[in-house]
Amino acid sequence: MYQAEKVFPEAPVSMHGELKVPGDKSISHRSVMFGSLAEGLTEVSGFLNSADCRSTISCFRALGIPIDLDEEKDRVLIHGRGLNGLREADQTLDTGNSGTTTRMISGILAGQNFESHLNGDASIQNRPMKRIMEPLQEMGARITSDRGNDCAPLTIRPSHLKGITYHTKVASAQVKSCILLAGLYADGETTVIEPALSRDHTERMLSAFGAKVIREPEKHKATIFSHPKLSGQKIAVPADISSAAYFLAAGLILPDSEITLKDVNINPTRAGILDVIQKMNGNFSIENKRLVSGEEVADLTVRSTSLQGCRIEGDLIPRLIDEIPVIAVMAAFAEGDTLIKDAAELRVKESDRIQSISENLQAMGADLEERPDGMLIHGGKALHGTSIQTHMDHRIAMAFTIAGLAAEGAVNLDQPSCVNISYPTFYEEVESLID
Ligand code: S3P
Repeated sequence: MYQAEKVFPEAPVSMHGELKVPGDKSISHRSVMFGSLAEGLTEVSGFLNSADCRSTISCFRALGIPIDLDEEKDRVLIHGRGLNGLREADQTLDTGNSGTTTRMISGILAGQNFESHLNGDASIQNRPMKRIMEPLQEMGARITSDRGNDCAPLTIRPSHLKGITYHTKVASAQVKSCILLAGLYADGETTVIEPALSRDHTERMLSAFGAKVIREPEKHKATIFSHPKLSGQKIAVPADISSAAYFLAAGLILPDSEITLKDVNINPTRAGILDVIQKMNGNFSIENKRLVSGEEVADLTVRSTSLQGCRIEGDLIPRLIDEIPVIAVMAAFAEGDTLIKDAAELRVKESDRIQSISENLQAMGADLEERPDGMLIHGGKALHGTSIQTHMDHRIAMAFTIAGLAAEGAVNLDQPSCVNISYPTFYEEVESLID
């Protein structure tokens, strides 16, 4: 754990080697949630033991589910008690910094016959919850924002839910998953139709646990049938492409570098960064493609390349939403312009990421125009080290660590320990690959 400022070597450096980054965050959260609602034992290997996923574990423990976390082996055992096996928590459930925990658990709690109170850290208390409150209320849920500002803290009271068909305004897997999970407890079937397809781990995993889910990806649509019997599963969590992204970028923009990332989840709803690397003419290869626990997995190799700018917009955005901070860094080192648009969602992530990316890249000397829904980056300007404001946002800290390695002079981060949210071993692994 890094408490103080983190300063990396005077750049530019090269990186070589092979790495398996930690387990996928989205799948780790879901393994605990669905395992808790299933009957019998769910055994998870490759679990992401990070602050966000521990928030999910502590919430389900507070709801009466025995969960064993073997920290050394990244293995979790969840002793599920079935769809109606949760019990009222003694205190407010603490979701920490995790939007995924907050939004998804709300869908589950809306279907319980007891009252729940939810809250998280300062960032969570500013993130929009209206997007889940509206559909849940349409299903009959009694969910309220305690301060009346459509943010956490939230109170959820018992109610009778009915299935609905809901058109979401934003492509968000957290919102989609929240509604589908409430649908487990509703009368009839529940359908979610999105403006663009968001990550589909909930649909894949709930099917594997025994729920009846109809997926129509070409229509951005998913339907769930209520009151299934869910059974405990064995889940091998693949490596997280959102964590691999920092090393994909490093291998491409650092001179004389070559990095292989092992066992990376390349689920098509998550792998938009690979499309961008291709558009930027990046030198990369995908090998050893296979299926693990219902998810496509592969080994990815990147090599130093003089990248070209490109356009990133439309349906591609939800497929790479968490990778945009490091993609913006790649764009700053590319020749020509990169336009990122249709990405206004970035303004309501752990920080306002359009602003956090823009201010920090500009502080390093990049030529960039901030837009309401993205940014235009005029690539190829020489970047220099400076002090980075992370806004306690893990993805900003990691993206600018990579930027610092490729720039002249050192970058230092104000709150380096925020990487613990998704990637506690990030700095050690960066150091292990530097030549
Ligand atoms: C996640 C969905 C995304 C993503 C987040 C994890 C998930 O959020 O940004 O890090 O696990 O469902 P949105 O669904 O709100 O876009």
